[in-house]
Amino acid sequence: MGKRHFLCLTDLNSNELHDIIERAITGKQRLLKGKIQQTLKGKVLAMIFEKSSTRTRVSFETAMAHLGGHSIFLSPDDTQVGRGEPVEDTARVLSRMVDCIMIRTYEHEKLQRFADYSDVPVINGLSDTFHPCQLLADMQTYYEHRGSIKGKTVAWLGDGNNMCHSYINAASLFDFNLRIASPESYRPRTEILQSAGNHIELLTDPKAAIKNADLVVTDVWASMGQEAESELRKAIFRPYQVNAGLMALAKQDALFMHCLPAHRGDEVTADIIDGPQSVVWDEAGNRLHSQKALLEFLLK
Ligand code: CP
Ligand code: NVA
Repeated sequence: MGKRHFLCLTDLNSNELHDIIERAITGKQRLLKGKIQQTLKGKVLAMIFEKSSTRTRVSFETAMAHLGGHSIFLSPDDTQVGRGEPVEDTARVLSRMVDCIMIRTYEHEKLQRFADYSDVPVINGLSDTFHPCQLLADMQTYYEHRGSIKGKTVAWLGDGNNMCHSYINAASLFDFNLRIASPESYRPRTEILQSAGNHIELLTDPKAAIKNADLVVTDVWASMGQEAESELRKAIFRPYQVNAGLMALAKQDALFMHCLPAHRGDEVTADIIDGPQSVVWDEAGNRLHSQKALLEFLLK
């Protein structure tokens, strides 16, 4: 197999994604019994973070430690990345030293340019357009709690952002129906929507979107880089808050997910995120297991 990148979910096909989820589930069970398989001994992952992170950083670092490899955290503040060295140059230099590179950045296009010049697999650790690693964890979490997501209804409430775009990709790859309810000017991008065809229903009414849903998902109203719009967005997105009133319209056994970090009282109320339908801690923990499976897929 030649070198593969994971810049968005559609870089892998449906079978490959399902295999990764299956591997993640069995790997997690093995780890819970105290068994660790060092399948990536001697391999090195470089991680460039141009935005903050808790989950992505710790899960990738722990994943490499468990697998017998090593990870290097690179911040723009103390590397030449922050001093304007072209991404094409950084990509060529790093790929002569490490086996895989993870990047969290702003413009998705920068990530693509980086990948074009890299000789080793590049993983998107979040861009302004996509967050594919989070979807691996979300899909694993759904499978663990409810079995196959095929044919189920997922409601996305709020911003048509990077997470929403990755949910759109997931809808066709995992074959579920995705209802997106967003204010009109905050809808997901048309070209991303078009790629998912009839799996998507675009709405403005959150009640219509959540009705009888099997899974309810939301995310922050202002993503990293949009902090200045925070107050304006709070007013616009208020009707999309996932609270007990809205959640009561979903199926009785519906799950609630949020990639975190969350703002209780904004996009979700505390009784929902801390309540019995919420699986956000499993979802966050599964970043570790699904990314281990992804690293093995890309590096072995
Ligand atoms: N969900 C997620 O990617 O979290 P971090 O920003 O903490 O990495
Ligand atoms: N949409 C959020 C996700 C954070 C993990 C952001 O981009 O900030």
